Amino acid sequence: MVILAHISDPHVGSPHFVPNMLHRVIEEINELDPAAVICSGDLTTDGYRQEYQAWLSYAERIKAPLHTIPGNHDSRNVGYLHFEELVGARNWSVDVEGIRIVGVDSSEPDLNEGMVGRSHYTWIREQFAQPADLRIFVLHHHLIPIPGTGRERSTVMDAGDLLEVLVRSGVNVVLAGHKHVPYVWRLEDMYLTSAGTCSSLRVRGHTKPCYNVLEIDHGEVTIFRKFPFGERQQMARVAIATGTQMQREDEHLVQESAQAAPASAD
Ligand SMILES: [Fe+2]
Ligand SMILES: [Fe+2]
Repeated sequence: MVILAHISDPHVGSPHFVPNMLHRVIEEINELDPAAVICSGDLTTDGYRQEYQAWLSYAERIKAPLHTIPGNHDSRNVGYLHFEELVGARNWSVDVEGIRIVGVDSSEPDLNEGMVGRSHYTWIREQFAQPADLRIFVLHHHLIPIPGTGRERSTVMDAGDLLEVLVRSGVNVVLAGHKHVPYVWRLEDMYLTSAGTCSSLRVRGHTKPCYNVLEIDHGEVTIFRKFPFGERQQMARVAIATGTQMQREDEHLVQESAQAAPASAD
């Protein structure tokens, strides 16, 4: 079995960042001993160098190989330069025990909206051209709306084009963050997975900080969300070859306010 951990949106530097939570996440992940850890951005809050340095003081304690892309917060204040100098390339591809993982920077300087851009599509297709047991694409922004996150905004501006590139490239799983809500959507035979914030209280409604764990075994992928200090819940189980969804247990996120709606004016 191959285990991957997916963490996102630690938001070091935010007044809502909880250091003890990140310590715990790192301890839990080191105990899990995954083949790799994927971090899908928003390491910082304003992209400042000292925030990157603070993130690295945590990240260097993760024992497994760590593969990281930037989020919209990391590209604020020209923070992408610090990302390149202190963290690494903003676009990359790696092979982890037969699994092809491709990460791209979907951030645009000082914008909350995301974009990958036409100039990257050929490169993305090429990265997925070789045979692989599983193909995983990583970006910060969500490609389709996530329930329970309020008004739809800060999307990927070229989401439609990118989704077609990914489906045609045979991508099985997309890993994203940004909305701070863990979720799984199936689109064609591709599974769009988002992770919560692993270590901040920048949460929506009653959602809690968490990270995701993927177990790949016997041609199946099982996706869990794990609450630091708390339980692990299975979100989906998927047959890789056919894309068949074996199980799906998402939290019911659409909740109406307990307060009665005001009377209509008409
Ligand atoms: Fe975030
Ligand atoms: Fe974000």
